[in-house]
Amino acid sequence: MSTTPNRPSAVPSHLDRRGFLAAAAVSAAGAAGASGRAPSVSAGLPLPSPRPLAPGDDHRGPCVIASGNGRQTVQLAFDLMAKGGRPVECCVRGVKLVEDDPNDMSVGYGGLPNEDGVIQLDAACMDGPLHKAGSVGCIENIKNPASVALEVLRRTDHVMLVGEGATRFAVRMGFKEEDLHTEKSRNAWKRWRANLNDGDKWLDQDQIINFPEPWRQSDRGIGSIEPLAQARGTGGGRSTQQGGGLSSPPNDHISFDPFGNPHTYGTIHCSATNADQDVGCCTTTSGLSWKLPGRVGDSPLIGAGLYCDNAVGSAGATGRGESVIQTLGSFWIVEAMANGMSPTEACLAACKRIVDRTREPRMFNENKRPRFSVTFYAVRKDGAYGTASILKGGHAAVCVGEGAVRVNSEFLYE
Ligand code: GLY
Repeated sequence: MSTTPNRPSAVPSHLDRRGFLAAAAVSAAGAAGASGRAPSVSAGLPLPSPRPLAPGDDHRGPCVIASGNGRQTVQLAFDLMAKGGRPVECCVRGVKLVEDDPNDMSVGYGGLPNEDGVIQLDAACMDGPLHKAGSVGCIENIKNPASVALEVLRRTDHVMLVGEGATRFAVRMGFKEEDLHTEKSRNAWKRWRANLNDGDKWLDQDQIINFPEPWRQSDRGIGSIEPLAQARGTGGGRSTQQGGGLSSPPNDHISFDPFGNPHTYGTIHCSATNADQDVGCCTTTSGLSWKLPGRVGDSPLIGAGLYCDNAVGSAGATGRGESVIQTLGSFWIVEAMANGMSPTEACLAACKRIVDRTREPRMFNENKRPRFSVTFYAVRKDGAYGTASILKGGHAAVCVGEGAVRVNSEFLYE
């Protein structure tokens, strides 16, 4: 297959995008240095951006930002911080509202399951002052994985626990094992099973990547590959979701296929900075709906789905986790802020960085518009905040005092 980069030819003009991208290129070059490598490790409080892109870039003072499904989250986290709560703990307490909500099918209780019908959750949190993280991947039967991640941070010398070990740890910490399915999530999975079919998350035959090397399959230690229909125990025609399960969502939360089945990379991220300019963050999710069992997304991976540095600020992501992992999006944003980008500028540049590094043609439509989206959220330690998405439609919830407000994410493509 061709590996020619399939880059967008033009960026829509809202927000004087050409000017932004030129400025971002200059900033990024400065941030990256002449080598084009990632920005170097930060030192000290970043300078205010010379070019704020959105009102949030000008804000100063305590601030909590979350993905759009976190309106109650940011309010609770802000109120707890005002009472002296540590940012990381306030974020974890805030996202618990969404983990507990049976109507949010992207997180915790009632989250959409994997292709076997099993709900596997991912979550992580990070504390700025200690520069310490905790994380769980593919945890089952525990409603509040972000709270478990906080216990990993608080009580262990590890960063990440996965699978059965994570569940066992949670039970030892006093978390209750319970069935996380709701009637709604179970029915959604049954409908998906009935209407869609094999290979939903596998690449089509002509999309499989074959590197030109002399090895035979047996040299790689692979026996004969079981046909998907056998592996899954079902037959049937192709899914409407061709291309490795990529639909073209209006935003990064939940979209519906023609059968009414929800598909989601939905997640909640929350980042906060308090009056002392200490930062913290957390991200929690049921991950990609109908994923292959064992799939881990960006949410529990430090530097990908979340990252903070007490000298700089905090950032996180929702949307297509695979793209965020392969660009270490949240780490990059924090480093870009350290090197002078405003939060909005850094989020938008991180989106562009993903698009520029996406090489497989299946990821773009005929107009070279990405078929996927990612939304980033960032807060600098002084309270400046921002959000940006690859596709229009992302939004954030922000609290800087009384009440939560909705902030539309800047974006690269209509
Ligand atoms: N961003 C959530 C996921 O990809 O799992």
